Amino acid sequence: MSEVTLYLQGEEAMEAFGQRLAALTHGVGTIFLEGDLGAGKTTLSRGLIRGLGHVGAVKSPTFTLVEPYEIGAVRAFHFDLYRLVDPEELEFLGIRDYFDGDALCLIEWPQKGAGFLPKPDLTITISPAAAGRSLHIAPQTVRGVAWCAVLAQEIT
Ligand SMILES: Nc1ncnc2c1ncn2[C@@H]1O[C@H](COP(=O)(O)OP(=O)(O)OP(=O)(O)O)[C@@H](O)[C@H]1O
Ligand SMILES: [Mg+2]
Repeated sequence: MSEVTLYLQGEEAMEAFGQRLAALTHGVGTIFLEGDLGAGKTTLSRGLIRGLGHVGAVKSPTFTLVEPYEIGAVRAFHFDLYRLVDPEELEFLGIRDYFDGDALCLIEWPQKGAGFLPKPDLTITISPAAAGRSLHIAPQTVRGVAWCAVLAQEIT
């Protein structure tokens, strides 16, 4: 599989990469965002959601678990499952409706929903590196492989 690793220094670079990803997805797909507290998952999500055309704030859905966005014809759902106690709670959230195939789903802390989430197109793992962050991007579907192929060409 065509995994991609890149280094991004600073919040602005992180948001800009999110915008780049948004263009690749055309607003459809599922992306898992892994990494410790403060890794930069929400920062990347903010860039992605703004890249889809959302104007205004992108707040962390830590307490609401999910924040929906309607951006023209595009629907996006930004999850933060950090506070999920039991993955089964996702059933009560009506989780299936979010993954019906024509929305972009960004999921922070997907480990907390293990067993109740669909397979993602990409898993992005963010870790601290020097003054910035290292991103490891692993595709898990044919669509994810296609996205990574484009990214790999751009960064080499
Ligand atoms: N590439 C980067 N280089 C340096 N700092 C960054 C980078 N990306 C994000 N940050 C900074 O990291 C901090 C935490 O970011 P953020 O809130 O996005 O993390 P998070 O992974 O969503 O955390 P949580 O698990 O608590 O939701 C912010 O201050 C942000 O500016
Ligand atoms: Mg966050």
